Amino acid sequence: MVIEKICCLGAGYVGGPTCSVIALKCPNIQVTVCDKSEERINQWNSDKLPIYEPGLDDVVRQCRGRNLFFSTDIAKSIQEADLIFISVNTPTKTFGNGKGRAADLKYVESAARMIADLATSNKIVVEKSTVPVKAAEIIMKILRANTKPGVEYQILSNPEFLAEGTAIVDLVEAERVLIGGEDTPDGQKAIQELCWVYEHWIPAKNILTTNTWSSELSKLAANAFLAQRISSINSLSAVCEATGADVSEVARAVGRDSRIGPKFLEASIGFGGSCFQKDILNLIYLCECLNLPEVAAYWQQVLNLNDYQKTRFTRKVIESLFNTVTDKKIAILGFSFKKNTGDTRESPAIHVTKTLLDEGARIRIYDPKVEQDQIFYELTSPYLTSEPEIVKSNVEIHSTAYSACTGAHALVLCTEWDEFKSLDFKKIYEVMMKPAYIFDGRKILNHEALQNIGFHVQTIGKRL
Ligand code: NAD
Ligand code: UGA
Repeated sequence: MVIEKICCLGAGYVGGPTCSVIALKCPNIQVTVCDKSEERINQWNSDKLPIYEPGLDDVVRQCRGRNLFFSTDIAKSIQEADLIFISVNTPTKTFGNGKGRAADLKYVESAARMIADLATSNKIVVEKSTVPVKAAEIIMKILRANTKPGVEYQILSNPEFLAEGTAIVDLVEAERVLIGGEDTPDGQKAIQELCWVYEHWIPAKNILTTNTWSSELSKLAANAFLAQRISSINSLSAVCEATGADVSEVARAVGRDSRIGPKFLEASIGFGGSCFQKDILNLIYLCECLNLPEVAAYWQQVLNLNDYQKTRFTRKVIESLFNTVTDKKIAILGFSFKKNTGDTRESPAIHVTKTLLDEGARIRIYDPKVEQDQIFYELTSPYLTSEPEIVKSNVEIHSTAYSACTGAHALVLCTEWDEFKSLDFKKIYEVMMKPAYIFDGRKILNHEALQNIGFHVQTIGKRL
């Protein structure tokens, strides 16, 4: 089969950018991205895309209406497609068996059932969502138990490794593409067909093929390794603060060893984002189910350290402000989980803000890309503790860093947006209460210059 039409179920942070790049690089393939949310599809078809991602607008502008379509007509897209990506969300379960740890596969299952109901010709179904090992078996069972005469399915695993904020570059210049499938002639043929799609722009040597379960586990493993590096450097940041060592110098020295490498060694207030915590919890749950408690405990510690780091940083803010922040104004700069994205899922800024709110602080937030409604949504989420009334009365959203800092007792930098490095801190000092405090949770500011202005400065992994 030559792949002429692709359908993607799920128009989120992965489905949208991934399929836009496929459409860009494969002008001979028609790509339709579907979502059950009409609002999301309307946004993809508008001038203001639902997600902020550098370079994405440009790609969508080039391809939309040519060979890239965003649609709610899921039935038509499934029926026409040769290959279907399942790129739906796989959040952590919030109730029932495995609550707080296991991945909730209800959206993956419903996508598989939709395909089973609607397909009238052979399909390659590709699991793009991040899932527990053996999840492809669920998709296989649902599809093969409902097969209509003349319809055959091949199920592949093709996890996505893009990071938000750099998604387009990560997709266009992918270091590796991973494709897992069944070790049967038909399974291998399906792998080759998906390889053909990627080979439009990815060198064949960068496309790795494995069995399905290795592919699924490799995705969880890659995220666990990345998060583990951050927890490792964050653990050392506490040692640095206690001893006078500087965590950036330690990271530079350690990372110079080519076996370790320099990337992903930036100490921070802890990692956020929709996936690291979710995927490690998923791995932990898997290990527990496989009766491997020691392995589960090992990975649990990566998460424990991350919670410790967020708490440690917030405690430092409170202690420095004479152990009380009640009625003090605190400016939070940055609310997204990292720079160059408007995504706030599991952002460490949420933890910092909520803890300070619980202590009675008055919070003013500025983020260059996160909308006001999104911030209020995160702070009043039912799974967290802050009362909506307290959030409403004690949180203000500002449109500049300067207005957020006016009258503030302290500035807490939570996200490493580049624009924060070039703020006029003399001007900020003048409008803040004195003594004026800066807590640099990302270690990106010039601390000596700030001290010379008159600020009291604290950061991560360095005693000042
Ligand atoms: P997302 O929440 O942004 O998007 C998922 C979309 O799927 C939603 O718009 C939802 O409405 C839609 N959906 C759910 N069920 C559907 C159905 N049956 N039919 C059609 N649409 C449906 O999620 P995301 O961030 O894009 O993540 C998707 C998957 O990719 C997750 O498993 C995640 O772990 C993984 N992943 C995410 C990233 C990332 O950077 N966000 C990177 C790599 C992998
Ligand atoms: C991460 C992985 O990097 C991707 O490969 C993966 O595809 C994706 O998860 C996923 O599966 O969802 P993402 O979460 O978008 O991507 O962003 P990262 O750049 O990994 O940053 C995650 C968090 O770690 C951020 O809060 C970031 O600030 C923090 N971080 C990162 C550090 O604290 N220190 C570092 O050195 C690097």
